[in-house]
Amino acid sequence: MIPQLEKLKRECLDAIAKATDTEQLQEVEVKFIGRKGELTNILRGVKDLNDNEKPVIGKLSNEIKNELEQAIAAKKQKIESKALNAQLEDPTFDVTAPGPDRQKGHIHPLSQVQKEVEDIFTSMGFMIKDGPEAESEYYNFEGLNIPAWHPARDMQDTFFIKNKEDKKHGRMVLRTHTSPVQVRTMEEFGAPLRMIVPGRTFRYEATDASHDTTFYQVEGLMIDKHISISHLKGVLKQFLSKLFGREVKVRIRPGYFPFVEPGLEVDFSCLICEGKGCRVCKKTGWVEFMGAGMVHENVLKAGGIDPKKWQGWAFGFGLTRLVMMRHGIDDIRHNLSGDLRFVNQF
Ligand code: DAH
Repeated sequence: MIPQLEKLKRECLDAIAKATDTEQLQEVEVKFIGRKGELTNILRGVKDLNDNEKPVIGKLSNEIKNELEQAIAAKKQKIESKALNAQLEDPTFDVTAPGPDRQKGHIHPLSQVQKEVEDIFTSMGFMIKDGPEAESEYYNFEGLNIPAWHPARDMQDTFFIKNKEDKKHGRMVLRTHTSPVQVRTMEEFGAPLRMIVPGRTFRYEATDASHDTTFYQVEGLMIDKHISISHLKGVLKQFLSKLFGREVKVRIRPGYFPFVEPGLEVDFSCLICEGKGCRVCKKTGWVEFMGAGMVHENVLKAGGIDPKKWQGWAFGFGLTRLVMMRHGIDDIRHNLSGDLRFVNQF
């Protein structure tokens, strides 16, 4: 069998040398070392050999196969580079002509800003959390100390989900804010805690230029032994100054949210008019930005955290609104319209 194999090798190398294009080369490959080729044919006889011969022939045929494969690959490369050179020498071939126009996609403006927000808070030691969009009434309302009479619990404001119940917590809603992730995260990690939750939220709105049924918020939560409103102010000032790339002033006013006590409204100095008063800030010099406050003790308790030992603040702002301010987008409905004429501007 050895002479047969040697002969096959010689013939195949010869054929490789003679091949002038890739089709011919492929034919050679199929003929000699293909699945139904000559090598396979010869190896059919191996089963009739004695046990001493079998390993010798096996080894030799493998070596020959490898050698031939390498010779074919080398020849293929040679043929291809020759073809390329011929093309380059062709005087009508313009190497400077632009290639085919490939349209690249890009990140949606909402995701771009979300990523920036995440990076800034991560750099201050906050973790990024996520929570379910279809949420139990318990986490969306009760756990956050939102009483039954609160307008958010009205059918007019919230999408209630029919015929679907959470095993432990009863009726389900599409979350109206990212705040439910506060209690979920407290349950998961306990105190101390530093986290933000960027996410999609839903309200039963009659849509117009500034209201949509789907929008994005960012929740923030910081809990430790001695956390106060000063820390909130410091973190927000740092966050906004990094986001806008210049010094931003932060103003705090009293506000009401059932899950914080005291509750706050946070404004920042208008970047358009530098505080002088313009259309964007409604001539006040300040832009309303978020709700915040010291986490209510009932919320800490719902999250399994002892309010006698720990305290902290929470905030929530509209990511969609932030993106609109940043880019001067005048209609909220553009954001999720899927209209490429809109998206491709960013
Ligand atoms: N969840 C509130 C909303 O959607 C925003 C908010 C206010 C979040 C105060 C907070 C907070 O964490 O402390 O309007």
